Amino acid sequence: MSGDDRQTTEVILGEERVFRPLPETVVEANVSPIEYEEAMRKGQEDFVSFWEEAAKELEWYKPWDKVLDESDAPFYKWFVGAQCNIVHNALDRHVKSFRKNKVAIIWQGEPLKDIKKLTYYELYRRVNKFANVLNSLGVKKGDRVAIYLPNIPEIAIAMLACAKIGAVHTVVYAGFSAAALRERVNDAKAKIIVTSDGLYRNGKIINLKNVVDEAMLECSSVENVIVVKRTGEEIDMSDGRYLWFHELMDAASDECETEVMDAEDMLFILYTSGTTGKPKGVVHVHGGYMVGIHRTLKWVFDLKETDIYWCAADPGWITGHSYIVYGPLIAGATTLMYEGHPLYPKANRMWKIVEDFGVTILYTAPTTIRMLMRYGSAIPKKHNLSSLRLLGTVGEPINPEAWMWYYQNIGQERCPIMDTWWQTETGAFMITPLPVSLLKPGSATRPFPGIHADVVDQKGTPVSEGKGGFLVIKKPWPSMLRTLYRDPERYKQVYWEKIPGNVYCSGDVARKDEDGYFWIQSRADDVINIAGHRIGTAEVESAIVSYKAVAEAACIGVPDPIKGEVAKVFVILKEGHEPSEELDKAIRQHVRKELGPIVIIKSIEFVDSLPKTRSGKIMRRVLKAKEMGVDPGDLTTLAD
Ligand code: WT7
Repeated sequence: MSGDDRQTTEVILGEERVFRPLPETVVEANVSPIEYEEAMRKGQEDFVSFWEEAAKELEWYKPWDKVLDESDAPFYKWFVGAQCNIVHNALDRHVKSFRKNKVAIIWQGEPLKDIKKLTYYELYRRVNKFANVLNSLGVKKGDRVAIYLPNIPEIAIAMLACAKIGAVHTVVYAGFSAAALRERVNDAKAKIIVTSDGLYRNGKIINLKNVVDEAMLECSSVENVIVVKRTGEEIDMSDGRYLWFHELMDAASDECETEVMDAEDMLFILYTSGTTGKPKGVVHVHGGYMVGIHRTLKWVFDLKETDIYWCAADPGWITGHSYIVYGPLIAGATTLMYEGHPLYPKANRMWKIVEDFGVTILYTAPTTIRMLMRYGSAIPKKHNLSSLRLLGTVGEPINPEAWMWYYQNIGQERCPIMDTWWQTETGAFMITPLPVSLLKPGSATRPFPGIHADVVDQKGTPVSEGKGGFLVIKKPWPSMLRTLYRDPERYKQVYWEKIPGNVYCSGDVARKDEDGYFWIQSRADDVINIAGHRIGTAEVESAIVSYKAVAEAACIGVPDPIKGEVAKVFVILKEGHEPSEELDKAIRQHVRKELGPIVIIKSIEFVDSLPKTRSGKIMRRVLKAKEMGVDPGDLTTLAD
């Protein structure tokens, strides 16, 4: 079917836009509409056997005695008594199959000429070598290894090598400061740091080793620092604790036994920010985690042997752990890693990568989509994007305008968009469509089969349709966090004691519509209350960015003597627009039209940039502190 005679799948139901899957999407999908509904039913009736069946798709050294142990809730245990290793499923089993010589990782460095492809067999042997390196440096089962590396194949090699020998990795995003790295390394008491001389970002070389040096001034647990040569810049390696990765690898054997792990043994710690300054060490384990990420990836991104799958995140975030490294490799897929900036050297870089490698599945963040949108649709039009068949987003609610732009200009109205809601803590997708789902732009649709999500009030009572409330998960799931590292009390308090009824509290605010579709509004702490109306800052922002002259917006609540709180917004205009009183008025009118008169805007400030985390989330807390003239607190996650 050509683009011209293709029927649109868009239907307008009442006020709402709904997108039905195209017939060819339904035919292709791993899970048909009937199988999906059947799984939804089964997942609600008996989630334990739903996940047991998912676990049977993977290989285990010894099967479980019990699928779920709830006796020490909320410290749930999954696949009790089973033995496994996630690396056995991600590598060992593939090298004994037809996938042995299949490309596992395609790596594109930021400099255009830097491309590497590793087959499953090559990756397997490199992982074995690095596992032996770690062994030879005295790393034992249960020891922690900090990984502070850019988006290069060695980050996957280091993670897999740790898991292979039963060590616990804690990846620290390579954009973090020395202070943030040190805090995480010390909390985990890591024995080794794996880093690189540097990385390429937006055309510049950034020296990472200097950052590690600074962190190392107060990292008493660290015995060795292993340095990958990435940029080749001159660095000082005179400190005897520092060792070159390539020299160690050259000397190591490429055979290594995979450690037999208990299903509940720790796989990694990943630090994430909480409401207090101290980061939370989210703990994931081998067994349940591999089951959750494998089932969700196979079903949501519909992986096929022939796919070139690109998750444009960084391995330093949970997205990268679950859906760049472990998930795709367990599924035997080809996963693409891109080292650099999405705008380098030009705004077409992402589309060039899609075209160059024939990417079939693209998974990125709304903030990236909005940024690329600013450069207009003429840029993607110049590229052949016909290989794409599925798109995804994650990280924040996607405003319908960005959704439509992505759908029309990148997916060319052929590719369904998987808006996946999940968290570092959940390990895997929780609320998400499947390719065969009916899509509503801006909604992450329904819970994945086996996931019991709901929207409740402070007392734990479900709220009625259309009303905002706390997004909770009412039953455990296999890829859930097990605890916060060395802080089980905080784990209980933060996630399980905020709302009565033994439910997991996500910290997000959402509403459910009449079809049971979830609309994530924002974090609970990003909610403003204007005269008793609970309004998500993200909702206001979405309304504002749907105005034609606006590129980006951030909204905070500021105190008001009568209304309690009112909104203050910060706006970045698109190129060719200048701040003016007319524009100020027009934006206010637009918000009133989109959200009604309950959203009262105190003022609009036109700005050139917004404070963001390195993962692209707007730090409203910083804007608010500035506005109120108070100390903004911990700024280690700020990008600029
Ligand atoms: C928070 C989790 C999970 C990978 C990346 C972020 C927000 C995430 C969505 C989505 C609306 C989303 C939530 C969540 N979020 N995905 N599809 N729609 N909001 O991981 O840093 O642990 O952040 O990101 O607020 O709680 P994270």
